[in-house]
Amino acid sequence: METRVLAVDPNRPSRRALALAAALIKDGRPVAFPTETVYGLGADALNPAAVRAIFRAKGRPADNPVIVHIADPAQLPALAREVPRAANPLMEKFWPGPLTLVLKRRAAVPAQVSGGLDTVAVRMPAHPVALALIREAGTPLAAPSANRSGRPSPTTAAHVLHDLNTRIPLILDGGRTEIGLESTVLDLTGPTPLLLRPGGITVEQLRAVVGPVELRPDAGHLGRSPGTRYRHYRPRAPVMLALTRRQLARLVKQQRARGLRTGLVCRGRSTTSLCPDVQVRSLPESLTGYARGLFAALRALDDSGVDVIVVEGVEERGLGLAVMDRLRRAADRVVGTNGAPTRHPKGARGAKP
Ligand code: TXA
Ligand code: MG
Repeated sequence: METRVLAVDPNRPSRRALALAAALIKDGRPVAFPTETVYGLGADALNPAAVRAIFRAKGRPADNPVIVHIADPAQLPALAREVPRAANPLMEKFWPGPLTLVLKRRAAVPAQVSGGLDTVAVRMPAHPVALALIREAGTPLAAPSANRSGRPSPTTAAHVLHDLNTRIPLILDGGRTEIGLESTVLDLTGPTPLLLRPGGITVEQLRAVVGPVELRPDAGHLGRSPGTRYRHYRPRAPVMLALTRRQLARLVKQQRARGLRTGLVCRGRSTTSLCPDVQVRSLPESLTGYARGLFAALRALDDSGVDVIVVEGVEERGLGLAVMDRLRRAADRVVGTNGAPTRHPKGARGAKP
């Protein structure tokens, strides 16, 4: 199938583009569209065959549930059979925006959406194209990130095309996404809100609104967060994550000494004037700038054919928690210490889907 890329004004998408995309959605086909976090691959959330088409296009394991996107909080009661009290101030404060709430699912939501769980994850994205598309399609959109399963999430239409060319009919190109990392996933089905995935809304922001938030799912909770079982965000080249600047320089030198073509993702000005042949992607010093450019940098280095990618870590607070979550999952090796013990993350990551 031919994949069409249609440029749209991110703030005022044309009626024509929206009508074309919505017609495909109504026909049960998946369409890629921009959100404020990353590009999503959306299909009619209430049509099981349409949802299956998303999994097929991505090569996604069937037990990894997808997020349902709505354009109005009024669409929530049709999806969730219980909306706990904590949900209201969170929706009030962070919707539209990068916060996904996991709630008890109504039977009308196809099992495919939830990977067989009794819950449904819902968010209202803060992007005019996403909101207009949901409205025009007249149905909530089930939408995972629009990458091939396991790869870094797409922050441009070109990334989507790279991964899904010939596998989907349409990509709405609304330019580069603003946040660059996915939404925060918060489970509200237990007694205390539980963070399943750090993301665009920080834990500090959540706590300011709802009080205590549990951070790491313990063993008993892992079944509630299927996505955490899979390897994710991985370029082809192995990734080495350095927790300190010193380790960063040392790692780069080591890789070069092994004769490997080395790529480097670092913050601000790089320390690699000592290594002139290293392919450097230097991202802004700010956490928001680093998050925005991270996935694109990993993809660009991969495309340039490097053998190994060395990445500089950030402090694990604010948006840094989400950045480090993605980097630890992407990494084959974590080197150095930032107060936490150094570890090889393989066991935590599980098998490749
Ligand atoms: O920012 C985002 O969230 C993007 C844009 C497109 O909205 N979407 C996204 O979707 O990142 P995806 O499918 O790549 O990641 C969804 C995550 C996965 O880790 C999945 O396991 C989890 O949310 N999830 C979805 N439904 C769930 C549920 N019912 N219970 C627990 N976790 C769920
Ligand atoms: Mg994803």
